[in-house]
Amino acid sequence: MEKTALVLVAFSLAVAMAMPLVHSTIGDPKEVDEWLHKIQHAKQKMTRFHFYLHDRVAGPNVTAMRVAQASITDKSPTLFGLAVMMDDPLTEGPELTSKQVGRAQGLYGLSGLNEMSVLIIMNLAFTSGEYNRSTLTILGRYGPSQTIQETPIVGGSGVFRLAHGIATSRIYSTNATNANVVIEFNVVAIHY
Ligand SMILES: *[C@@H]1O[C@H](CO)[C@@H](O)[C@H](O)[C@H]1NC(C)=O
Ligand SMILES: *[C@@H]1O[C@H](CO)[C@@H](O)[C@H](O)[C@H]1NC(C)=O
Ligand SMILES: *[C@@H]1O[C@H](CO)[C@@H](O)[C@H](O)[C@H]1NC(C)=O
Repeated sequence: MEKTALVLVAFSLAVAMAMPLVHSTIGDPKEVDEWLHKIQHAKQKMTRFHFYLHDRVAGPNVTAMRVAQASITDKSPTLFGLAVMMDDPLTEGPELTSKQVGRAQGLYGLSGLNEMSVLIIMNLAFTSGEYNRSTLTILGRYGPSQTIQETPIVGGSGVFRLAHGIATSRIYSTNATNANVVIEFNVVAIHY
């Protein structure tokens, strides 16, 4: 077996053993089938969220780190090819100390050769209340110099199975010293 495959197997085992029994039905294929059957005649509902994302690229407690770049990235005025992996806290209010409701885990990559644009792939992994352990997945583009960015929600898990929706976001504040940003999100998710 390849070394990477071994690592994956070890990881899956560790996760399986760490999982409490209470949640053993989550992701069980039989339970998924039953759920799919049950929702055939169910009405969709709409859930709205409002939260703040803290992307900390420098200073103490960094949450977003460069993982790769292209040979031209350093010379590119649009930073083309830069890839950043993040695990950013999501909070109820704009302060980092306000209640944490989840994490935004994923990747963003600088994807514009001639103008600044960002490919964003991230899972909103909720950790509070009824949404604990449920996720929403965003796959979209941050365009150049738009005040409000719109990205699609392409799926979800847990409470948000088969979700789709729209996330709009805007920069709430930027720290001029270290370039850390706080981004305000409004999310509408349609799900069962
Ligand atoms: C901005 O970052 C600097 C350096 O990390 C820090 O000292 C300062 O408190 C930050 N400002 C705000 C408003 O968070
Ligand atoms: C960094 O994290 C530590 C441990 O969680 C915390 O005590 C400290 O206040 C954090 N610092 C900042 C600037 O957020
Ligand atoms: C969320 O789920 C985790 C894992 O099951 C659990 O440890 C944690 O206490 C839960 N948090 C809340 C706020 O319910």
